[in-house]
Amino acid sequence: MIKKCQVFTPAQNVSELLDYVGYISNLSGKKVIENACGDGNILTEIVRRYIIDALTQNKKIEEIRQGLQSDVYGIEIDEVHYKNCINNLTYVAESFNIFNVKWNVFNGDFLKQNYVNMFDFVIGNPPYITYRDLDDETRNFLRENYISCRHGKFDYCYAFIEASIICLKQTGKLAYLIPSSIFKNVFAQELREMILPSTVKVIDYTTQKLFEKKLTSSAILICHCGEAVSNIVYKDVARNREYQISKNRLVGKWVFSSIAQNSKNKKFGDYFTAAISIATLLNEAYILKNFTEENEYIIIDEYKIERELIRDGVSPRTLNYNKTECILFPYKYDNNKLIRYTQKEFEENFPEATRYLRSYAKELNARKSDKGCEWFEYGRSQALAHLNQPKLLLSTIVTKEVKVYELTKECIPYSGIYIVPKGNCSLKKAKEILESDDFLLYVKGIGINASGSSLRITAVDINNYTL
Ligand SMILES: C[S@@+](CC[C@H](N)C(=O)[O-])C[C@H]1O[C@@H](n2cnc3c(N)ncnc32)[C@H](O)[C@@H]1O
Repeated sequence: MIKKCQVFTPAQNVSELLDYVGYISNLSGKKVIENACGDGNILTEIVRRYIIDALTQNKKIEEIRQGLQSDVYGIEIDEVHYKNCINNLTYVAESFNIFNVKWNVFNGDFLKQNYVNMFDFVIGNPPYITYRDLDDETRNFLRENYISCRHGKFDYCYAFIEASIICLKQTGKLAYLIPSSIFKNVFAQELREMILPSTVKVIDYTTQKLFEKKLTSSAILICHCGEAVSNIVYKDVARNREYQISKNRLVGKWVFSSIAQNSKNKKFGDYFTAAISIATLLNEAYILKNFTEENEYIIIDEYKIERELIRDGVSPRTLNYNKTECILFPYKYDNNKLIRYTQKEFEENFPEATRYLRSYAKELNARKSDKGCEWFEYGRSQALAHLNQPKLLLSTIVTKEVKVYELTKECIPYSGIYIVPKGNCSLKKAKEILESDDFLLYVKGIGINASGSSLRITAVDINNYTL
């Protein structure tokens, strides 16, 4: 599990981290910790700066050695990296003729240390491990010991940010390289509330990738404890822009847009419903690509499916590439009301589709479907109640522009976000809104950076867009 997070900080970002919290001069007597120090990429630069600063203050070598022993801390859970780190620090110290430093660097778990009110600086690049990749023991430990991990699908780094804030003195400073998803992720709400009072600056790399082969987009978080500022300085590195954002606006997701969303205005969700499409949870069975037609059936390999069960199936991706697909639709509508077949009805009325789906029985039964869902139904079908009408579809991933597709009443979207009107509102108007420059600007503010220059949005984001 730990191996997944061993991505070390490039030298350029190490300098930035230290500069942003002023780890530059007057460093003697100031306690600093790198709390997941790996091979010591950051700690070696800390030590180098510490020594140079002490030398410019004419401190004696012995005094500097003792200072290093009492002011510089590190901790690393992996023994191999811990040993590399000690060697690297010793190499730096010895290059200044400082020998035999007994480093305050430990091989251990920072999250189990309970350091409180102890450091002037925490500088680091903590491990990021998604909830999915955490083992049960770690999940339980974090849930029980860290407020930021009490609910939902937290990331391992939430606990590091929380523990870092706690270990700082009342005037302590934090410079932390973090995944920028913490600003928008719904499960990081408690963490955001915790860091908001001390946050003074966010340096957001948005589309710029700091770590090769990693999808995560990064930001530097700067916190100054004991400094009650009402604005955050937000720097968008990729667009080379910097502006002040009032903390009052950072409620829920942190939207770093220079344009304020006026909370008094009506929202998109007052006129339309944006919601997530159905999910079959086994597209290979339900989405039909290569088939021929014969009388009342469509033919797939050695199977037949009753035509009555076939609809156009679309996703933002297929629409983008103008591909046509069909979907096996094991439901019907009666007067716009969704009718779910009982198992008996389905199997008796559609023996051929039953035979076809049975060939996927193992995979269908292994799905983590909604409660009460029959074996032949889609895994998530809540959306179906609203889909028997004209609707719009857009992807959860936005790259450069928001693409909105118009779908007929019969068409079934199996991924993306669909939009249906409330009352008499016109879908044409909804399309106009979603394709507007202003909505795109909103997406740039609220979206979570996915890969490259793409942003991920949710149905809730769309409903919350103020008009
Ligand atoms: C993203 S790397 C960063 C390393 C170093 N800070 C750098 O920037 O080059 C995270 C490091 O945290 C270590 N680590 C993971 N969990 C830890 C824990 N609970 N306590 C201390 N170190 C941990 C990993 O072994 C890894 O070396």
